[in-house]
Amino acid sequence: MRKNIVAGNWKMNLNRSEGLTLVEDVLSKLPVDNKTHVILAPSFVYLYKVAKMCSDIPKVVAASQDCSANEKGAFTGEVSASMIASCSARYVVLGHSERRTNFTETNELLKTKVGQVFANDLKVIFCCGESLAQRENGVHFDWIKSQISESLFHLSVEEFKNIVIAYEPIWAIGTGVTASTDQAQVVHAFIRNLLVEKYGNEVAEGTSILYGGSCQPNNAIELFSQKDIDGGLIGGASLNADDFVAITQSF
Ligand code: 13P
Repeated sequence: MRKNIVAGNWKMNLNRSEGLTLVEDVLSKLPVDNKTHVILAPSFVYLYKVAKMCSDIPKVVAASQDCSANEKGAFTGEVSASMIASCSARYVVLGHSERRTNFTETNELLKTKVGQVFANDLKVIFCCGESLAQRENGVHFDWIKSQISESLFHLSVEEFKNIVIAYEPIWAIGTGVTASTDQAQVVHAFIRNLLVEKYGNEVAEGTSILYGGSCQPNNAIELFSQKDIDGGLIGGASLNADDFVAITQSF
């Protein structure tokens, strides 16, 4: 059985005290019988503290929003996967569209980053998704296939078990326009079928595929009820404890 996961991507929001207050609020509001795997992805600056705050809480862990493609050395300002692992985080978000667009991250670069993450025994939340123009031109399936295959399909079956995929249509991120449940489900099923073809049923059925893009408490239940949607990667709504916890309980 694959995991239901809700991850909060804080992006470049919240100062230290705001961030730590949010973690306290989220942890206090999660029900004691919480069954969802919850991942918090704060700024690197508070990653260690957030990971420690979650360390005694079942099913709650921390993630970084990115990592360097390099192991170590003269890369001023970069943060290595080994540093992230040493801060008790468990996941690294890779390939977010904001990084692909603003920092020109390519599929090839992301393949290298995946290697760094795995070399440090962390798991990957791998983001993919098309622009509005790509969808309108009908090339979104090919685009998503190339994102996934070029960055991940060198992995072995065993390695792939440490991948979570997040489908985030760029046109739905931060816009208030959510993909319809049908639109999201169709792409999630397409992604799962890619995994069936490459890795077989067991891996495909075991891989959590999250939806991201204006996911809110009022649409999460419908989205998460879809056969191939195993949770969400949440931006704006992850900055509000009530909204985020409500989304985590939307299965
Ligand atoms: P929003 O939920 O703010 O649309 O952001 C989605 C996202 O980019 C999560 O990584």
